[in-house]
Amino acid sequence: MTSGNLILFLVFITGGIRLSKTLKKMTMNVPRAVRVGHSVTLECDYDLEGAALYSVRWYRDNNEFYRYVPKEAPPTRVFPLPGLHVDVSVSDDHKVTLLSIGQPMAGMFQCEVSADAPSFHTEMMAAPMTIAVVPDGVPVITVDKSSLEQGGPLISECSAPASFPALNLTWYVNDQKVPGSTSYWTKKEAELEKSFSRLELTGVGGSWGAIRLRCEANLFRLFRANSLEVSVKPDVPQPASVLLMGSSRKNGDLRIFHTSMPFLIMATVLIR
Ligand SMILES: *[C@@H]1O[C@H](CO)[C@@H](O)[C@H](O)[C@H]1NC(C)=O
Repeated sequence: MTSGNLILFLVFITGGIRLSKTLKKMTMNVPRAVRVGHSVTLECDYDLEGAALYSVRWYRDNNEFYRYVPKEAPPTRVFPLPGLHVDVSVSDDHKVTLLSIGQPMAGMFQCEVSADAPSFHTEMMAAPMTIAVVPDGVPVITVDKSSLEQGGPLISECSAPASFPALNLTWYVNDQKVPGSTSYWTKKEAELEKSFSRLELTGVGGSWGAIRLRCEANLFRLFRANSLEVSVKPDVPQPASVLLMGSSRKNGDLRIFHTSMPFLIMATVLIR
């Protein structure tokens, strides 16, 4: 190895090490969810500390849809992916703007930054983003009292309007959040999904006044809605303790979640 080569080699090594440190400062700014039809700007920040940029590439689930290479003319290139329309006039080496995103989907969005020669050091970051469809309407509770009248549980079901992805449903009994539900399922409806949740309360009656049931639906931070509150007046005399029973599909979790009333509510519920 001549001394010229050795110096080049050392430059290469130290350059690589320095770059890998600086590229660790990479950050991404990608919203967790955005509505279908809306536009969004995804940001990828990095600091090459003086080294030249070779390329920035954006992928959805490992499929490239945007590339920025400053040495090329024009520096931007777009690769068509279903539902994604890149607006190159507001995209550059730090951001990519998607116009009116066309279809509901969930994917990992990845940003890959490469330094120029000699290191060509490359780093990639990824963040999940869901293209969501916000529902029309609110969740609806139906109550089946017939089982209760025969000494069985009070059975309630909450059904959600169609959305993408399926809504998260949360039960409230007398304004107390129930940590789970007896069962939970979703149904596909075209490209949308509907979720359903069932809650079974046993031992309802006696010193209970009316039982107020409410179901709350959430779609990330894009949407939140409550069902109408349903009030059930049990006319069967029962001991003053109430069990929320569940034939849970996963590991049931027995827990006391309410103690501020003169009785205990115990729940065996499906923890999601
Ligand atoms: C549902 O709740 C889980 C747990 O909090 C959360 O990770 C997920 O993003 C929520 N999904 C929706 C559609 O809001």
